[in-house]
Amino acid sequence: MSSRPAPVEEPEDPLDEPFLLGRTVLVVGASGGIGEGITRALLELGATVVAAGRSEARLNRLADYTDGIGPGVLHPHAVDLSDPDSAAVRTRLADRHGKFDGAVLTIGNWGPPEPTPLLDVSDAVWDAMIADNLTSHFRALRVVTPLLPVDGALVHLTGLSAEIAFPGAALVGATNAAKKSLLRTLTAELDGAGPRIYELVIGRIRTRPRAALGVDSPAWLSGADLGRHAAELIAHRGPWTAEPLQYLLDRASGVLTALPQ
Ligand SMILES: NC(=O)c1ccc[n+]([C@@H]2O[C@H](COP(=O)([O-])OP(=O)(O)OC[C@H]3O[C@@H](n4cnc5c(N)ncnc54)[C@H](OP(=O)(O)O)[C@@H]3O)[C@@H](O)[C@H]2O)c1
Repeated sequence: MSSRPAPVEEPEDPLDEPFLLGRTVLVVGASGGIGEGITRALLELGATVVAAGRSEARLNRLADYTDGIGPGVLHPHAVDLSDPDSAAVRTRLADRHGKFDGAVLTIGNWGPPEPTPLLDVSDAVWDAMIADNLTSHFRALRVVTPLLPVDGALVHLTGLSAEIAFPGAALVGATNAAKKSLLRTLTAELDGAGPRIYELVIGRIRTRPRAALGVDSPAWLSGADLGRHAAELIAHRGPWTAEPLQYLLDRASGVLTALPQ
């Protein structure tokens, strides 16, 4: 694949063309910093958004944050997609919401705030990071993939630390690399017999929680930018729908299908 930079297009006024009207999109991790931005963009583009998260309180905050945003409609659903009984979770989602046209998976745990060298990582932190950042993704994929039609799309997010050394946060990098591997294998195994699968490898993203900690830059893409990009993929629009692996590193580099050498 070639490396083809292009700007992530921001519609001048997304309300002019709500191209997701009539479509239902499941956002797993909608209560998170990236998830709330994605949810907001999908609502602006007309989607019915099923916002999944484990915490009722966090979903209520999401409903407040997106209050008045439309023309889409928000359906918060407190559910744990990392529950080992994937079949039961899948049935609950299908019974309550019917058919889905697309899904976006944006879950994970940043790990301990203080940088920890690899050899000092405790077994407890290791186990928690594997559970929250790898097992949870495996189980969420197991729930969601069979819910989507062949003309639907599943968009999964992984961090750029999948590709590089990540001193002080080895488990974030290791689980990102493993997630990328899972998604590439899923794409190959489905080979057109399931929904279109997109693995987005993302750089640092502007979110409200991270900005509140002073971690922010106008050079970065936002959660809403990722939401608009995911919306295009789900709607099968734009130049990137045939690319299962994409890199969205920052505003200047746009969408790439390989890392710059
Ligand atoms: N923000 C960035 O700059 C950036 C860059 C690269 C990669 N990432 C990665 O993208 C992911 C989301 O980032 P974020 O900034 O949005 O994080 P965040 O604000 O902490 O949100 C994390 C989300 O993941 C969900 N979650 C966590 N553990 C889960 C589990 N075991 N099962 C199901 N859901 C779980 C949380 O849902 P609940 O409400 O259910 O707890 C929450 O919605 C993280 O993995 C992060 O490492 C972020």
